[in-house]
Amino acid sequence: MEKKFKRTLVTTALPYANGPVHIGHLAGVYVPADIYTRYLRLKGEDVKMIGGSDEHGVPITIRARKEGVTPQDVVDRYHKLIKDSFAELGISFDVYSRTTSEEHSRTATEFFRHIYEKGGFVERKSTQLYDEGAGRFVADRYVVGECPVCHAQGAYGDQCEKCGSSLSPTDLINPRCAETGNVPVLKETTHWYLPLERYQEALEKWILEGHKEWKTNVYGQCKSWLDLGLQPRAVTRDLDWGIPVPVEGADGKVLYVWFDAPIGYISNTKEILPDSWEKYWKDPETRIINFIGKDNIVFHCIIFPAMLMAYGDGYQLPDNVPANEFLNLEGDKISTSRNWAVWLHEYLRDFPGKQDVLRYVLTANAPETKDNDFTWTDFQSRNNNELVAVLGNFINRAVVLTHKYFGGKAPAAGELTDVDRSAFAEINDAVKAMSEALDTFHFREALKQAMEIARVGNRYLQETEPWKLAKTDLARTGTILNLALQICASLAIAFEPFLPFMSEKLCRMLRISSLKWADLGRTDLIAAGTEIGQPELMFEKIDDEAINAQLARLAEIKEKNRLAAWQPEPVRPEVTFDDFTKLDIRVGTVLECERVPKADKLLRFLIDDGMQKRTIVSGIAKYYEPASLVGKQVCFVANFAPRKLKGVESQGMILSAVNADGSLVVVSPSAPVAPGSTVG
Ligand code: 2FM
Ligand code: ZN
Repeated sequence: MEKKFKRTLVTTALPYANGPVHIGHLAGVYVPADIYTRYLRLKGEDVKMIGGSDEHGVPITIRARKEGVTPQDVVDRYHKLIKDSFAELGISFDVYSRTTSEEHSRTATEFFRHIYEKGGFVERKSTQLYDEGAGRFVADRYVVGECPVCHAQGAYGDQCEKCGSSLSPTDLINPRCAETGNVPVLKETTHWYLPLERYQEALEKWILEGHKEWKTNVYGQCKSWLDLGLQPRAVTRDLDWGIPVPVEGADGKVLYVWFDAPIGYISNTKEILPDSWEKYWKDPETRIINFIGKDNIVFHCIIFPAMLMAYGDGYQLPDNVPANEFLNLEGDKISTSRNWAVWLHEYLRDFPGKQDVLRYVLTANAPETKDNDFTWTDFQSRNNNELVAVLGNFINRAVVLTHKYFGGKAPAAGELTDVDRSAFAEINDAVKAMSEALDTFHFREALKQAMEIARVGNRYLQETEPWKLAKTDLARTGTILNLALQICASLAIAFEPFLPFMSEKLCRMLRISSLKWADLGRTDLIAAGTEIGQPELMFEKIDDEAINAQLARLAEIKEKNRLAAWQPEPVRPEVTFDDFTKLDIRVGTVLECERVPKADKLLRFLIDDGMQKRTIVSGIAKYYEPASLVGKQVCFVANFAPRKLKGVESQGMILSAVNADGSLVVVSPSAPVAPGSTVG
């Protein structure tokens, strides 16, 4: 493909330093960006991959208050955790910096001031929610109350999670500030707005006409925003954490986190290229690619480009924004607040040395065109059936056979046969398809094609059976194993962007010192006579125990979340005293209690009701040992029509309280009473 650009700047969404990163972040942004960057590096292109932590915003201040530490403490902790775990996963940033750096503060301040001085903002007054007790403004998300639509408690000021309604905080019944419990009031404030409507036409031309090749999810979201008509957008906030608004009279105000964060891409570029950073931002021969998740599309395709246009001075707009959809976990949306995630640092702890497995599974299952699901059983089966059984197996066979028949020295190749040529033709087809897929950000497809090379290798060995030939034709065996080793060398190149750890190990084993994309599919990458290293397994099976431990952890979290979200049932419609007295509730003493055969939920009670002994069947067997109830007093409905349960006639119903976790607790009088006493 003809090279249109001189260099590429790959940016990756800056994760909030408010928690660790999880598989959703990885699959959506960092793994694809890393694959792409590594691919360009292998092609010898000039590429820089920019990352960093997003360290401003309201949630960080709330977490800090909750923990009784400063926001800086919070971001210091998570920045380190995130940076270290990215490095361990092999995400090969050229820079991973942070938005609390001095360089960033200087750059963002200058960026705002420059637009301000050009008249690029409008100043507006508005009223916003204010917590008088705490002396601070409150973001909509942090006001809670009763949902006006479904009447659930705990609806947020911007949305009710129970019924999904979009809300404004003034819609809430009985609104309260989530943090303090205070009733918010409305207070006037002034902010600076970026008048996005000034850029409507330019953005339409740039995206709708100029970038029809963008992914349909990205293009579609941009189109709907543009079709709605752009409005001024506030780029400052009343907050004490962030970059101060560099304008007189703006005390207590900071740049909106979404204004300063994308400028982080520029400041982080400056950090590594203090003298030449402008080439990467202002030269039309630079190609800028923003890797982001779908929730970031509007900020990268509309707002940040409008900021760059407002600034002027030759800033280039991104050439592509290959945003991904979301990754779910075991069928449920990943959620930081509900701890429903696979956290990268925990994965690295639980699966040491298995970075490539996660990279592989997240790429094979990447949510490129629709939301996708990560499941632990899929993780296990992709490892065992694909990495171990196809890729690892082929490499292992090639290396083991070389040791077995040629003492570990790469044999020389003789004349090639049709079978050999056709295997390499297939490999070269896969290479071509893989390059095309990588050029167009189709990483799943690219990975499939890389895997195809290993499949061709396996088929080739199956077909040529060098282990049989070795007895009769060592020269031909040598040719086959030479070619198998050449395929291994191609695998080291093809998989470097996807599985860099395996690629490195394979290079060590095959004594390859440097990799080039252009070498893929060649038959002369390993010279005859090269001493191949001892066979080492590239991957190992993951057993059920490891998977079950992860599933058990998730089940525990799910249960915890269910309990935390529990709310008492709404009160039922009103009844009269007469209605109530129709029920004859009494106290009885348990004389006998035993399990009902073949019914794991049921217990059969014999109750002394003061007049006679009556049998009652109750569905509480899961919660009680029958013997523990004998002698206890229980409340029961005495005038319930008899009914048969599993063949036993029940003459009444024992009352139980249904606990938040669904367990049942029998209702008893708080002190002994005469059997047959009425309850009312
Ligand atoms: O959504 C997020 O996690 C943001 N912190 C992404 C910021 S991307 C960029 F603009 F820095
Ligand atoms: Zn609701």
